Amino acid sequence: MMNRTRRLRKTENIRRLVRENRLHIDDLIYPLFIEEGQGIETEIESMPGIKRFSLDTISKELDEICELGISAVLLFGIPASKDEIGSETWNEQGIIQRTIRYIKKHYPGIYVITDVCFCEYTSHGHCGIIHDNDVDNDATLANLAKQVVSHARAGADMVAPSGMMDGMIATIRQALDETGYYKIPVMSYAVKYASAFYGPFRDAADSTPSFGDRRTYQMDPANRDEALREATFDDQEGADILMVKPALSYLDIIRDLKNNFDRPVACYNVSGEYAMVKAASAKGWIDEEKVMMESLLSMKRAGADLIITYFAKDVARCLLKN
Ligand code: PBG
Repeated sequence: MMNRTRRLRKTENIRRLVRENRLHIDDLIYPLFIEEGQGIETEIESMPGIKRFSLDTISKELDEICELGISAVLLFGIPASKDEIGSETWNEQGIIQRTIRYIKKHYPGIYVITDVCFCEYTSHGHCGIIHDNDVDNDATLANLAKQVVSHARAGADMVAPSGMMDGMIATIRQALDETGYYKIPVMSYAVKYASAFYGPFRDAADSTPSFGDRRTYQMDPANRDEALREATFDDQEGADILMVKPALSYLDIIRDLKNNFDRPVACYNVSGEYAMVKAASAKGWIDEEKVMMESLLSMKRAGADLIITYFAKDVARCLLKN
């Protein structure tokens, strides 16, 4: 007898019946860039279809998200002024705080997650306070606590620290608990690599480091065992969701986390991954929709429960028509 695996591939009906993974609109989180100012609706050149908005122009985008059935956003702020320590991050009238209040008031159905970091807010573009030409871990933790409490007070549903500081999850959990925000979950950028795939984002968020790079805090792309170590600490410190970033070049890490931790796993399909697909498609070299769906599906197959992606609106449209 021959083993005939093709039997279960014969028609679309049977393929659908035995399909193991599917993308669902509920898996998706859409990043939003909000800039201080007025009348801003700036297309980001290296991320076709993605714009920076100001608070007075963002409703169009939020309406569209709701119509498409996307229910979660991840907020990035671009402040009018930066300083050495990123003090705008805990300003109650800061761009993120005002955006959270605006969304929660006018779009109560949208789940608001905030990126918690300093790089868009510091004059040097690093993810914390600089001492001796390096980010000072423990000095940065104290400010992280101020930032998350300020986001919580403004009404954020979830916070997502992305700075790769040691002890950041314990600090944040404690700060939220002590101020009564014990119900707010923390999605940790637990395994974040020092990646060249962040290039377009740094244009979008105006967060390129003015000196050096992020290799003293973000992980070496060569390391896999270390990812488990990072995730173990964040798990122990009380992270509710563990994230891997970037996604496409790190599918093995997504699977490692899925197999080793009893927590939802998220991945971040980053700006460079998005830009490559858009660019090749603009050249007519690939079928954009198919490549998009295949690569996002690969993240689910690898073990991601949640996917943060600039493609969220495109995926939603695709899912609606199929
Ligand atoms: C840091 C942060 C970065 C991204 C998300 N949060 C950039 C960095 O570490 O330089 C990258 C996201 C992307 O490339 O899409 N706040």
